[in-house]
Amino acid sequence: MTNPAKPIRERGLFITIEGPEGAGKSTHARRLHERFRGVIPLVLAREPGGTAIGEAIRTVLLDERHREMSAETEMLLFAASRAQHVGEVVLPALEAGTSVLSERFVDASIAYQAYGRGLPVEVVRRVNEVATRGLIPDLTLLLDVDPSVGLPRARGADGKEGPRGRGDRLEQETLEFHRRVRAGFLQLAREEPSRFVVVDGTLPAEEVHAALADAVRKLLDRRGWCS
Ligand SMILES: Nc1ncnc2c1ncn2[C@@H]1O[C@H](COP(=O)(O)OP(=O)(O)OP(=O)(O)O)[C@@H](O)[C@H]1O
Ligand SMILES: [Mg+2]
Repeated sequence: MTNPAKPIRERGLFITIEGPEGAGKSTHARRLHERFRGVIPLVLAREPGGTAIGEAIRTVLLDERHREMSAETEMLLFAASRAQHVGEVVLPALEAGTSVLSERFVDASIAYQAYGRGLPVEVVRRVNEVATRGLIPDLTLLLDVDPSVGLPRARGADGKEGPRGRGDRLEQETLEFHRRVRAGFLQLAREEPSRFVVVDGTLPAEEVHAALADAVRKLLDRRGWCS
């Protein structure tokens, strides 16, 4: 049997970075992008957002005045933002051979809207299958922190929605809510150990970066792409 011909241009890799509030997702997504964009074509994206429509939905989702938002509305708005992001940014990039590094994806919806809010996991999965057209990340980097560490970090970070020190609508949720979210992320990682790499987000930033970069490098090696 002969090997099938190698395609001239391979599909890009889809890497997501997940974790509770203040885990270091934005910090490390930026650093990974800087480190790898000279190695492979790589775009950085974030959810909710990543497109003009998605950023408008993000504003609605994070506005601290929208306290009456139901869990179902929240799930559908995140999914709507994601659908636009996947259709407008992620799939076209991957198909053109560019890899995508996205802050948050479906795992965040399962952690927040299922484990956090109490919606059935299967409902959140089904809605997101529509939003993502079945796209699954090649690698998910999970930054793990207890919310007692993450929340104060998130509420105090620069350039964030919501009043400094108080945070956006989701950051204003209770510690118990955020503990369920964290437990949800860890459960997802246990269920899919081949997709997830879990890194302790309380380690010094240099160590976190080294562990994340190592995981990305291994993925590139598996693809046979030099790194
Ligand atoms: N390993 C670390 N050690 C100490 N501080 C850190 C570490 N990683 C990130 N921080 C700091 O914590 C704050 C929050 O980090 P960052 O904004 O990257 O988190 P995030 O996961 O993107 O948060 P959010 O969920 O709010 O988007 C920032 O001020 C950042 O500098
Ligand atoms: Mg962030």
